[in-house]
Amino acid sequence: MARNYANKLILAAVAVANLGTIVPIPTNEAQIRPLTDLEPEQQREVWLQAVNSAPMGKVTALNVEAAKAHMIATGKLAKREERRKREEDGRELARLKAKSAPKVSHQYEIHCCDIRDLTLPAGSVDAVVTDPPYAYKSLHLYEWLAQKSVVWLKPGGLLFAMAGGCFIPEVLNRLTIDGLTFHWMFCWSSGDRFTQIHPRYVTTRWKPIIAMVKGTYKDRLDRYMPDWIDSPFEENRHHDWGQSLIGLRTLIQRVTDPGWMVVDPFLGGGTTALACVQSNRKFVGCDIDRDAVNTTLSRLSEISQNEASSRG
Ligand SMILES: C[S@@+](CC[C@H](N)C(=O)[O-])C[C@H]1O[C@@H](n2cnc3c(N)ncnc32)[C@H](O)[C@@H]1O
Repeated sequence: MARNYANKLILAAVAVANLGTIVPIPTNEAQIRPLTDLEPEQQREVWLQAVNSAPMGKVTALNVEAAKAHMIATGKLAKREERRKREEDGRELARLKAKSAPKVSHQYEIHCCDIRDLTLPAGSVDAVVTDPPYAYKSLHLYEWLAQKSVVWLKPGGLLFAMAGGCFIPEVLNRLTIDGLTFHWMFCWSSGDRFTQIHPRYVTTRWKPIIAMVKGTYKDRLDRYMPDWIDSPFEENRHHDWGQSLIGLRTLIQRVTDPGWMVVDPFLGGGTTALACVQSNRKFVGCDIDRDAVNTTLSRLSEISQNEASSRG
């Protein structure tokens, strides 16, 4: 194979991986080629635009070129260099803030590691609340999550795992292990913002949060848990897959009590960590990605600074 062609295929494979769970996925190299010189977030934006504007969702290389040209012309795609610089500045700032932020405090512990390396005393955790990557290739993470949660959780404790709508049977299959059973499916509602799931011909405004219980759920909370959580759009995003802080605070306050111990082994931008600290819950979390950990630490340090300044 010519080296030039091999390079094109490699770039195409990287771009396809960057599209994550967006469907349909490209079926040939020509379709993805116009995206290969864009940043991952831009690749997703252009691909979504191409899919949405293609007749019957059948995307051609021409649709992708047209979508890219349209987004550049209308200024919707920030220039690659500008965006790269902004993101790098953000990472650098988070790195600096994270340096002076404690990784352990009386309220939280933050680790940079794989979920498999996060060890906690057996039966010490009241709830696991998390948001793993949803792609098909990441489904094994739900299995690791179940194996860890069943050890960490107290009897009757709950695991809340967000999931993409496409692979619910596979996710349930991986979460259901000895000692962990299905409890309920909660709704993470995005209000009037909707997403089109093309292979299923579905327009959706919510995603599931699967709740699994260790043993039997018996009056751990002396109240009913409403299963509908509003997650308003928040401009200030801290991670590519960042969730709404208001939504996570609502969930945490509904399903745990003050002082309870909550774990999130897929921190991302650390939204669960913030929701817990702001709600007076104890928190332990980890992420395999150093930048994600820095972002989490930097956001946590901002809370402590705000608290300190409001105390005078
Ligand atoms: C969907 S994001 C979490 C977003 C988060 N809920 C937020 O609001 O910012 C999932 C995170 O899981 C992390 N991750 C992927 N594989 C992992 C592993 N094996 N162990 C720990 N973290 C992992 C990724 O680095 C990513 O930051």
